[in-house]
Amino acid sequence: MKTYRIASIPGDGIGIEVIAAGLRVLEALVERDGGFRLDVKTFDWGSERYKRTGALMPEDGAEQLRDFDAIFFGAVGAPDVPDHLTLWGLRLAICQPLDQYANVRPTRILPGIESPLRGVGPGELDWVIVRENSEGEYAGQGGRSHRGLPGEVATEVSIFTRIGVERIMRHAFVLARSRPRKLLTVVTKSNAQRYGMVMWDEIAREVSRDFPDVTWDKMLVDAMTVRMTLNPSSLDTIVATNLHADILSDLAAALAGSIGIAPTANLNPERRTPSMFEPIHGSAFDITGKGIANPVATFWSASMLLEHVGERDAARRLMDAIEKVTADPDLHTPDLGGDATTERVTEAVIAAIRSRN
Ligand code: NAI
Ligand code: MG
Repeated sequence: MKTYRIASIPGDGIGIEVIAAGLRVLEALVERDGGFRLDVKTFDWGSERYKRTGALMPEDGAEQLRDFDAIFFGAVGAPDVPDHLTLWGLRLAICQPLDQYANVRPTRILPGIESPLRGVGPGELDWVIVRENSEGEYAGQGGRSHRGLPGEVATEVSIFTRIGVERIMRHAFVLARSRPRKLLTVVTKSNAQRYGMVMWDEIAREVSRDFPDVTWDKMLVDAMTVRMTLNPSSLDTIVATNLHADILSDLAAALAGSIGIAPTANLNPERRTPSMFEPIHGSAFDITGKGIANPVATFWSASMLLEHVGERDAARRLMDAIEKVTADPDLHTPDLGGDATTERVTEAVIAAIRSRN
């Protein structure tokens, strides 16, 4: 029987709560399916480890993950540790060495969930945002000098390479082609940023020649926020830089109902290294320990994980179970205006997985 090795990294705050729920749901799917197994190893990496040892993960952390089939990640961040330390010490310290350069973020309005956009229902907002995940504004280039003096200087340099832009563009065109509408929107800011962003536009045009069946257009990122809000059904697949897509995908999650629903995959599309699946939300200290974190984003991420390793039936079954549960307002957590707990939603999804139809 096929066994997949999964590295589980719950991290901090509600990351720990939603990954525990996600693993229970995965276990229920394994039982229901009977055709595969999961060998899960949990890593206690995160802010507690940082406070104890001075590092969020061991020096060879990314290497330890290399032989797994996939990584299931919660969230990282604690109120008493600076966010740039936690992000760079764990999440980016995994994504960068494992070259998970394509961050894929599906967004749609699930059954039973109300968009804050008046009159917009399921089907009218169905997007996949592809975020460049290895360079751009988050390449880590820059520095600070003359600290504390009036002349203190800080630089934050965006890095765009032809290889980096071309591979993300290609991934986005392939993805757009796989979806029924075959529609791609390329987001840049090439009016104000004359070098990197103009190169993005040029590479988009070059790559598009290999995809004559994909319809594509260009948007400036500021105008894109307006289009997402006022004309959501005009969009399908979207590709943007690391920073732009980071912001647009939070907006997308909110427009689809809640950040507690939105999943993401950090992919190495060539499968040379394991890919990582996580909810897009953070560790949410404000609700940690209350038992009310919405686990749906994590369940949806687990479905993407199963799809990626090749367990399509189990992935579909999980998505069906999620949609059955979101359709019932009694099973909405407080972020969706309900009063259900993480536990109750998890039990309901497990019951739906076990049910016959
Ligand atoms: P956040 O996503 O943790 O929370 C934003 C708001 O959304 C909060 O009001 C929170 O209660 C709510 N929320 C988030 N997930 C939810 C869920 N599953 N169910 C119900 N409500 C939910 O973002 P915030 O507050 O900016 O960051 C908190 C910490 O998380 C920081 O340390 C930040 O650096 C870190 N962070 C980590 C990420 C990661 O590990 N990938 C991503 C985003 C933030
Ligand atoms: Mg973000």
